[in-house]
Amino acid sequence: MTSPLGKDLLALEPLTPEQIGLILDTAEPFKEISERAIKKVPTLRGSTIVNLFFEPSTRTRISFEFAEKRLSADTVNVGASGSSVSKGETLVDTARNLEAMRIDMVVIRHGASGAAQFLAERIESNVINAGDGTHEHPTQGLLDLLTLRDHFGDLRGLRVCIVGDVLHSRVARSNIWGLQKMGADVAVCGPRSLLPNAIAEFGITVFDRIEAAMEWAQALNVLRLQLERMTAGYIPSLREYNRVFGVTRERLERVDHDVLILHPGPMNRGVEIDSDVADGPQSVILNQVTNGVAVRMAVLYLLAGGRPELAETAKSTPGGDR
Ligand code: CP
Repeated sequence: MTSPLGKDLLALEPLTPEQIGLILDTAEPFKEISERAIKKVPTLRGSTIVNLFFEPSTRTRISFEFAEKRLSADTVNVGASGSSVSKGETLVDTARNLEAMRIDMVVIRHGASGAAQFLAERIESNVINAGDGTHEHPTQGLLDLLTLRDHFGDLRGLRVCIVGDVLHSRVARSNIWGLQKMGADVAVCGPRSLLPNAIAEFGITVFDRIEAAMEWAQALNVLRLQLERMTAGYIPSLREYNRVFGVTRERLERVDHDVLILHPGPMNRGVEIDSDVADGPQSVILNQVTNGVAVRMAVLYLLAGGRPELAETAKSTPGGDR
């Protein structure tokens, strides 16, 4: 069956607003499955999915695994250590050997930008990008969109500011593409050293002061400072960063409207975000994590060729509520 998304999900940049809307709408009925006592439907029974995680991950890896298991797929997890990658085997050889065992899909996280596309062009299985270098993290972008849509009802005209280390962030790129395609008004805020030189080409607003960004925004998506990717002195110190750009309760209290707080995780508490904001009433950070499972179920389902109306019937198919 042909998928309405094509063979792979590699990025949000090439998707149409209709395709993004379809994924978000398809995720809605899948939310309910995770609320059941027995969280399983037979939708992908017989499919085999390999999760290739060559970089550390908590949320994305476990969320994909839950999504796959809740759709009754058979899953295998492969990491760099413990596989023949540690002996020098190439990514393509690893994937082709897995394909020889008759798999259907590969979910890949990799430190190199473009790794997911490179693989997708060389294997027949569906490929889902679970984050590649500083390029894109499309399912994170989608779950952020779903969380914003849950709260505000409509993404059109919504003012969203992405705060912090945009330079190293695949989450920022997927959010910028996804939000713009869905009609939101997008801004970024951070030290110029952590904004890409080409930020102007995105056609978005740039704030140099966090106070001004908070005044403008209805939602802030606060990014982690990716210290492991910083090869130079991008900021004077973590303390200085928190003093100038930190999302703190004192700053939020000075704004005359509520600002929704998102963070893709993992958080550097006390650096880009203070604990009383992360755990406070305006935070939807754990709602993002919950929505991640539904979004990934929707992506797996649609790539397998599912029609959106079948996602509804997945709830009532035989075994659907067992
Ligand atoms: N948001 C995100 O990608 O988190 P992990 O690195 O834990 O998967």
